[in-house]
Amino acid sequence: MIIIDGKKVSAQVKEQVAEETKALKAKGIVPGLAVILVGDDPASRVYVNNKKKACELVGFRSVEYSLPATTTQQELLDLVEELNNRQDINGILCQLPLPKGLDDNAVIEAISPLKDVDAFHKQNVGRIMIGDYDFLPCTPAGIMEMLRAYDISVDGKKCVVIGRSNIVGKPMGMLLLHENGTVTICHSHTKNLSEITREADILVAAIGKAKFVIADMVGEGAVVIDVGMNRDEKGKLCGDVDFESVKDKCSYITPVPGGVGPMTIAILMKNTLKAAKLQNGIQ
Ligand code: GUN
Repeated sequence: MIIIDGKKVSAQVKEQVAEETKALKAKGIVPGLAVILVGDDPASRVYVNNKKKACELVGFRSVEYSLPATTTQQELLDLVEELNNRQDINGILCQLPLPKGLDDNAVIEAISPLKDVDAFHKQNVGRIMIGDYDFLPCTPAGIMEMLRAYDISVDGKKCVVIGRSNIVGKPMGMLLLHENGTVTICHSHTKNLSEITREADILVAAIGKAKFVIADMVGEGAVVIDVGMNRDEKGKLCGDVDFESVKDKCSYITPVPGGVGPMTIAILMKNTLKAAKLQNGIQ
């Protein structure tokens, strides 16, 4: 069994981004990412801090907009509009979920598709569906990058994704399909879930429930990718996979933390670099 080192692969991706950023800077272009955080959710705060740290590491400018939970929908949309029009901002990211009373979708649709480095805008989602895209969503693309780094081929493999969110499950299925996997997407209404997951060569868990995937749900030699970020009964960080019980059945497994999480941020850097290039007519 091999534990996939997301930190190591993400460091490689960020190094590449940093190198290309140097070359851009020589042309007078500094990629800029605006990060919007509304409210004071502690997990969102950690994610936003990590994103800002990564920007610093690769040489981007990052601007944080930390707004109170009392922010109105209109105020948020006005900020997005202002950022859409700013030349020095190449990427706009609004940390989701937004506090109650604010509409995630309205904000996603307000972000210019050219600056949508999360690839959540319906125009970008549609382009991914037909395989003609500039940006890929960060978590699924990060997972594909990890599989490539470990020479894990998707071609012809049975791929099972648990979870059907717009952010992870659905686009994950699409990216695996692009690589010629045979894809099944399972969700809360799926019958005989264990029977389906046990057949998977590649199993992606994106459910949002601590230690949901147990040994009985995993086939011998499977590649298990854990997208979860939860707290267990002791308050310790854990994934959607019960790592201790599952690990000995796997050929490869991603840990939490140190697996998918760092990859998500590395791809965000990649997308922001690409946005800066496109907006400056490079490539
Ligand atoms: N919330 C959970 N994952 C993400 C992500 O990748 N981007 C944003 N903006 N919010 C998230």
